[in-house]
Amino acid sequence: MSNTLRLLEPIQLGAWSLPNRMIMAPLTRCRAGAGNVAGPLNALYYEQRSTAGLIISEATQVAPGGQGYPGTPGIHSAEQVEGWKLVTDAVHKAGGRIVLQLWHVGRVSHSSYQTDGGPPYSSSAVAATGIQVATLSGMKTPEIPRAMTVVEIHDVIAQFRQGAINAKAAGFDGVEIHGANGYLLEQFLRDGINHRTDEWGGSIANRSRFHLAITKEVVEVWGADRVGIRLSPSGTFCDSHDSDHFATYHYLVKQLDAFKLAYLHVTRPSESDLRHGSPNIPLKSFREVYHGKVIGCGEFSLTTGETAIEDGSVDSVAFGRLFIANPDLVERAREGASLNPPDEPSFYAGGEHGYTDYPFLPRK
Ligand SMILES: Cc1cc2nc3c(=O)[nH]c(=O)nc-3n(C[C@H](O)[C@H](O)[C@H](O)COP(=O)(O)O)c2cc1C
Repeated sequence: MSNTLRLLEPIQLGAWSLPNRMIMAPLTRCRAGAGNVAGPLNALYYEQRSTAGLIISEATQVAPGGQGYPGTPGIHSAEQVEGWKLVTDAVHKAGGRIVLQLWHVGRVSHSSYQTDGGPPYSSSAVAATGIQVATLSGMKTPEIPRAMTVVEIHDVIAQFRQGAINAKAAGFDGVEIHGANGYLLEQFLRDGINHRTDEWGGSIANRSRFHLAITKEVVEVWGADRVGIRLSPSGTFCDSHDSDHFATYHYLVKQLDAFKLAYLHVTRPSESDLRHGSPNIPLKSFREVYHGKVIGCGEFSLTTGETAIEDGSVDSVAFGRLFIANPDLVERAREGASLNPPDEPSFYAGGEHGYTDYPFLPRK
């Protein structure tokens, strides 16, 4: 690897002039403090990775009922806004840029996270099967969710808007809407989960309405050039399926194109998705319906990431596990240095180990 890498070229994504095309993917690390508030340890972790062209924060719930894992941060309380300021200040002082990933897990939540103790919410009363949900008292079988009323749908859209407003108060550079990975937005988009017969279900246009309504609200808060959205067209995570992934996503992406967002973030299928029968929709196919900047993600190495930019599939590449293990991934790419391997057992384990203690290259 060397300075001539396309990955190291600057790029303009919406309002942001990025010094390179290596994006830090959103990564849940389950290390927020009491009240799901980010603190100094989280600030240090993100600061260490601030040479990434852009940091996309870990998924952050817009409401208590949108939580699905212990220790994930929120963006719905004043304390959470204050906590995130430590993170955004640290990243900005180090010369970096960071956007907040706005999140609601829908049916992947559990009654123990809900303020009224009832089951979690989704588009329809369809429980995820073949998975376990992560509660504060261990892994549990998913509950049958409550099918959201139209009023509740509008309440959640308003929670995303408020999350976007709070992210601004917390000093972020923008936001990414989490529309991927089997969580609430995808639970509306996919007909394997969404069995509604009103204007929020049925046709692809109706099932796309939730993504588009949330995008409209968040864009009103931030301006389109500071908003990105993440989709996983080929994903099957959290027992999420559709009868026609290609048609569904090409329709949705075409609608998103009109917003002129800072970026579209698309994941490609993992080995596990492929084993679960994922349709392998090529990232490049979205160029037919999307004219803005595209970030690709999903098991990219520096070499395959470079190729994906070179062959025009994507404009920049998000790296997940490589950024967990290599805070100075950009410098390592520039110098052709070897990479630290990620330590999987510590991904969600809490504490400094496997979080802020990965070694940097020795200073010259
Ligand atoms: C520990 C871990 C946490 C993750 N958390 C999130 C998350 O909060 N939001 C999200 O959209 N994707 C999340 N993902 C998916 C990653 O962003 C990325 O798509 C995935 O790791 C594949 O990229 P990679 O092969 O470069 O790691 C997570 C993945 C891992 C391994």
